Amino acid sequence: MSGTLRTLDGIDVAGKRVIVRADLNAPMKDGRITDDARIRHAAPTLLELADKDAIVIVLSHFERPGGKVVAEFSLAPLRTSLEEQANRPVRFIPTDWTNDLHVSAISAARPGDILLMENTRFHPGEEANDSRFSQTLASLGDIFVNDAFSVSHRAHASVEGIARLLPSFAGRGMEAELSALERVLGDPQRPVGAMVGGAKISTKIAVLENIVKRVDILFIGGAMANTFLHAQGISVGRSLCEHELGKVAERILKQAEAQNCTIVLPRDAIVAKELAPGAYHAIAKIHEIPEDAMILDLGPTTVADIANGFALLRTLLWNGPVGAFEIEPFGLGTFALAKVAADLTRSGKLLTVAGGGDTLAALAAAGVSKSFSYVSMAGGAFLEWLEGRDLPGVTVLKTPTLERRH
Ligand code: 3PG
Ligand code: MG
Repeated sequence: MSGTLRTLDGIDVAGKRVIVRADLNAPMKDGRITDDARIRHAAPTLLELADKDAIVIVLSHFERPGGKVVAEFSLAPLRTSLEEQANRPVRFIPTDWTNDLHVSAISAARPGDILLMENTRFHPGEEANDSRFSQTLASLGDIFVNDAFSVSHRAHASVEGIARLLPSFAGRGMEAELSALERVLGDPQRPVGAMVGGAKISTKIAVLENIVKRVDILFIGGAMANTFLHAQGISVGRSLCEHELGKVAERILKQAEAQNCTIVLPRDAIVAKELAPGAYHAIAKIHEIPEDAMILDLGPTTVADIANGFALLRTLLWNGPVGAFEIEPFGLGTFALAKVAADLTRSGKLLTVAGGGDTLAALAAAGVSKSFSYVSMAGGAFLEWLEGRDLPGVTVLKTPTLERRH
């Protein structure tokens, strides 16, 4: 749906109870956060609101407890990290959403306080977008702010239902995310290209179909390129390949041609007989992949093709690694291209936006996460947005534009 995003600009929050939906679903291991990017992302909006004397009530899910209290999915261990990032005391409220602890905590709160509520997914009404649970949440505040793009593909009570019941706005993180996305696929500076990798085309058919309509050039890497090569009659040996999706790959190639989108496929590859650290490997031309080998990375000619392509662009979207980057040495293609994109970004020649699934880990392994113009922390939401779909949590924050009638 088109419309203007309602932001926090000019909103008076002093003395008001402001509910902020954040995505604190950060990766954790043995009770410790392994990547605090999502916490850092949430902090600025909380701080801005607390500085403006709002009573700030933070809602988030953590993992998938399935509508019941599961101790290991408590948000309690995240409190300290949030407190550090927001540079303000944060109080954790261990409500189970039926014991009313949330109600008493909020009535005792003072302007400038930040309260972190327990996991919203401990209540079955959250994922069901149950209107009674939305009411319960809405009754805690005067204003609702969604600062969690990464969960906005979910029509859940704390994301969508509540936004219908209170004056609702986009937080600063949400605003930044949507503006980055707009600059890459909405109204980009051209030429605009996309680098799409990852293992399977089955999970990205709708993404590819939408992208070929919007970009001038599409580079395809990762195992998903094998399905395209196979569709063109090229033998890919024992490589990961969705043989049954040959027709889909052909259809995407045709759609690209009809839309004047150039598709660049690998001309050579790094092949090996096993996917193991330090496995014996060789460079093979794409028409000469040995029967008993697997394609595990782009070859040097292809890396050079794509690097040259990047140099001609003004805007680049990146989703997915182009090789088996987790296993050394099959990350070289991904790392080399990530560095080229990062260098072009640093010199002001290219706007780069990356996101979705493994992309973050791949860019982090390449050491360039901070050099891209924008790196989205969203997984599923980023992919749904790449598919051109309306995200329920975003749509509800927009003031509809009146369509002109003829
Ligand atoms: C994510 O990790 O992508 C978001 O936090 C959404 O989580 P979900 O896939 O469990 O809805
Ligand atoms: Mg997840």
